[in-house]
Amino acid sequence: MSSALKIDLITLFPAMVRGFLEESMIGRAWQRGILEIKVHNLRDWAADKHFTTDDRPFGGGAGMVLKPEPLFAAIEELRSPGCSVIFMTPDGEPLNLPLSRDLAADNSHLVIISGHYEGIDQRVRDALVDREVSIGDFVLTNGTLAGAVFIDSVCRHVPGVLGEEKSLTQDSFTGNLLSFPQYTRPAEFRGMSVPEILLTGNHAAIDQWRKERSLEKTRARRPDLLNKKESEK
Ligand code: ADE
Repeated sequence: MSSALKIDLITLFPAMVRGFLEESMIGRAWQRGILEIKVHNLRDWAADKHFTTDDRPFGGGAGMVLKPEPLFAAIEELRSPGCSVIFMTPDGEPLNLPLSRDLAADNSHLVIISGHYEGIDQRVRDALVDREVSIGDFVLTNGTLAGAVFIDSVCRHVPGVLGEEKSLTQDSFTGNLLSFPQYTRPAEFRGMSVPEILLTGNHAAIDQWRKERSLEKTRARRPDLLNKKESEK
């Protein structure tokens, strides 16, 4: 059986991400054949006996830059016709729910490059990368974590990965609203009780209550999302 989504991740630290993949829902979907995820060590494509993958930047400056030769060799070996090559970088387009969802819907094969150090040689980006993605306005010491976050956020949109597809429609950011508060048993805990309405079984009223709480939270924390909502009408 061919998987719904194939992912090849290229990194200098494969062990960092293998543990996460094996332990997660993503790992279970992988075992069930819905996803096919391979984690590759960039050093396997290094051309010299020292397995060199980085070098000092031309023009000077701090840090090291990943060399073009191993990255070209890795991407050219792993890519397939129609696949998307994604580079994880803080100067990429911001990752958000619509981007994750669209990438899952539009692709059957992603090749992801997790950078490290001061970045990668620009010629790799110019010649081979289709999309550059940032997971947020901060800089990680290790782009492998960004790759893992990206894989998780995209894969949960692949049909069959989540136990209940309904959970996707309750996500924060769906319809540009943050999520509503959730409660479970017991109804009373240390003097704190669950909002009465959730115990009534009146689903229309519960939906209304949840929508109001979502709006309230979004207004307080992310008014920018509500502005988006207005302009989408
Ligand atoms: N590598 C380091 N920081 C990153 C970020 N914020 N997004 C994607 N890749 C990164």
